[in-house]
Amino acid sequence: MQKTLREYILEADKAGVAIGHFNISNLEALHGIYKAAKKLNLPVIIGLSEGEEKFVGKGEAVALIKELRENEHYPIFLNADHHYSFETVKAALDAGYDSAIIDAVKLPLDENIALTKKCVDYALELSKKTGRDILIEAELGFIGTSSKILDALPEGVSEKTMTTPEDAKHFVEATGIDLLAPSIGNVHGMVRGGNPRLHPERVKAIREATGIPLVLHGGSGTMDQDFLDCIKEGIDIVHINTEIRVAYKEAVEKFLQSHPEEIAPYKILESAVEAVALVVEARLKLFNRMQ
Ligand code: G3H
Ligand code: ZN
Repeated sequence: MQKTLREYILEADKAGVAIGHFNISNLEALHGIYKAAKKLNLPVIIGLSEGEEKFVGKGEAVALIKELRENEHYPIFLNADHHYSFETVKAALDAGYDSAIIDAVKLPLDENIALTKKCVDYALELSKKTGRDILIEAELGFIGTSSKILDALPEGVSEKTMTTPEDAKHFVEATGIDLLAPSIGNVHGMVRGGNPRLHPERVKAIREATGIPLVLHGGSGTMDQDFLDCIKEGIDIVHINTEIRVAYKEAVEKFLQSHPEEIAPYKILESAVEAVALVVEARLKLFNRMQ
């Protein structure tokens, strides 16, 4: 009997390490992530945002993960990352995802709570019906939206939009979520000139106030020490996307420059698999204090 994602999160929490969550848009990224996780023998979460999911296909994503989990017996899990409506969360869970993030931070707080609660209730109902252990995560406080290279901090990201322990406690109690993604200085994407520093003391206070595992979004571009300090204080999952996208693109560009005649996608894209694997291996080693 394989362990559930909830059990792996609990294990990571006890061990003071974090599980890596990496986004994919295609098969090469999945192969790179799987290759790195397998090399280190660590559980891993694959995330697809609504846009990434639309490109890959919901059913296809579920089938890919199922193949690795059931036939290769590997602890790899599938997360519906930043889904913006009940309908898209429900569709992902119905298709077989292990978890979903209902991202309703742009809504007024009471609407965010109502929508999040609706997703939690649905996940509970589906878990009961299917015997699967489905997790729901929600975000509180603003951390920007795009996994891309940014010239400056996104508008609206500031000390003022960071999550407070009081708000977090209220939100968690009102919704019953399994995981919380707070705003603690983190930002989606990589800011030219450097990402802002994180606030581990805020992680500690939010963790104490809520008592549930916390997820660090916007991991790309974060300083190593900030990761370690936040993981120590209660972060159990870390999301990385932009760094993977950059590695993928640069590897393909470099390969095509040096092999302008090559037309076989599996030869061209092998360079992307290797580049993604290198990024993921380095991040996983750090999150698990293996270096
Ligand atoms: O949900 C996805 C992540 O939070 C990725 O953020 O692109 O800054 O690594 P990132
Ligand atoms: Zn995110």
